[in-house]
Amino acid sequence: MNVYDSARMADVLAPLGYQPVDAPEGADMVILNTCHIREKASEKVFSELGRLRECKEVHETTVGNRMVIAVAGCVAQAEGEEIMARAPYVDMVFGPQTYHQLPEMVGKAARAAGVRILNTDFPAESKFDHLPEETGAQQGPSAFLSVQEGCDKFCTFCVVPYTRGAEASRPATQILAEAKRLVANGACELTLLGQNVNAYHGEAPSTAGSSGSTWGLARLIRALAEIDGLERIRYTTSHPRDLDDALIAAHGDVAKLMPYLHLPIQSGSDRILNAMNRKHTGADYRRLVDRLRAARPDLALSSDFIVGFPGERDTDFEDTLKLVEDIGYAQAYSFKYSPRPGTPAAGLTDRQIPEDVKSERLQRLHDLLNVQQVAFNKAKIGTVMPVLLDRRGKRAGQLGGRGPWMQAVHAEAPDRLLGKIIPVRIEAALPNSLAGTVVIDERHDDTIKEKVA
Ligand code: 5AD
Ligand code: SF4
Repeated sequence: MNVYDSARMADVLAPLGYQPVDAPEGADMVILNTCHIREKASEKVFSELGRLRECKEVHETTVGNRMVIAVAGCVAQAEGEEIMARAPYVDMVFGPQTYHQLPEMVGKAARAAGVRILNTDFPAESKFDHLPEETGAQQGPSAFLSVQEGCDKFCTFCVVPYTRGAEASRPATQILAEAKRLVANGACELTLLGQNVNAYHGEAPSTAGSSGSTWGLARLIRALAEIDGLERIRYTTSHPRDLDDALIAAHGDVAKLMPYLHLPIQSGSDRILNAMNRKHTGADYRRLVDRLRAARPDLALSSDFIVGFPGERDTDFEDTLKLVEDIGYAQAYSFKYSPRPGTPAAGLTDRQIPEDVKSERLQRLHDLLNVQQVAFNKAKIGTVMPVLLDRRGKRAGQLGGRGPWMQAVHAEAPDRLLGKIIPVRIEAALPNSLAGTVVIDERHDDTIKEKVA
């Protein structure tokens, strides 16, 4: 979501004459867009700021004009005052719900040295109603689209409900219009974003007699699937509690909805899930996965896991390993529990797990997930899969992209195939990617032949 937000900030700043550049050296303004989810992420902010301070000094002595330094995102939201106090060379600090106010903030801060802005409001208006249309300047064939933000779940380890705020969904009409523009600008894959994306309940497009009604995510996906030129739809991140029957059905019959789902469970132990306030059990999750797989047998799953949540015993951790064994993931993210200021779990000081235990558990979980990922990738060898070639490969003459199951795939391919979905025969599985050969032969249907031509 920060990638999406950064692009939207660039859109807001474009009319003021700002253009994105690749490096801070020589820039008139540098915005650090920050993440507060774990301690490591937020610690980076202060070390990056140290580097930027030097950059600013060099810029101001050599170029002679001011470099504005700004901190955006969730660290700004959570630690705004601390940043202002610890880093006096920072000119602007603003939270995730204020990006539409950037022109006003920049106007004030850029006017004179010494004017500093701290804006961590949750404005009554939605920023989406005030952001300009995206310029598409940095957009590729695979684009992000934020459909909801914030979260009301309050998992006891998580800062999101405090930094991103309460759950809010964008109206469907606004999303459909943005999707059409993204497709017109060359996107053929859209990833719908939200901290709890399947809680989406946006205002429905107005038709006679429908005022006040809302659409869920499944309905939104069905409407998006009707957009010509849009070939692939993905969404992330989902909460198991909000995965309703309609969404499961959509996985079964919306062909454009990709067979890959990131569905975090966090732990396989019911005792820990309860302490995390996850509002579901391991059995609930297993049932959901069974139903999803019944609807879409080739669905690949991914998850997030936290090890070393306060009070996690060996037996709880064994339950997590057992769940992973039983479900079988295509890939997953695993993290050591990181106490976050202000969250309930951080207050459980007598139950925190020692660092060495966390490290050992993380390694074991990581090894198991890795074995599953390698097996999933190896099973694709010899198959042909459609790959959206959206970038140049590491070696000359190579293009890279993603298959339906999110694996990175690279193949020798001419540049004219960039931005297209092309069948690739998979020949090798590396730990984090697949390698293959572009297939152009009679067995493929006309659409693909036409695209290849
Ligand atoms: N410690 C460790 N991991 C966390 N996550 C969220 N909060 C924490 C925390 N305090 C992980 C969860 C979530 C992912 C985005 O980050 O697994 O799903
Ligand atoms: Fe955080 Fe996700 Fe839980 Fe919301 S559902 S509180 S974003 S972990």
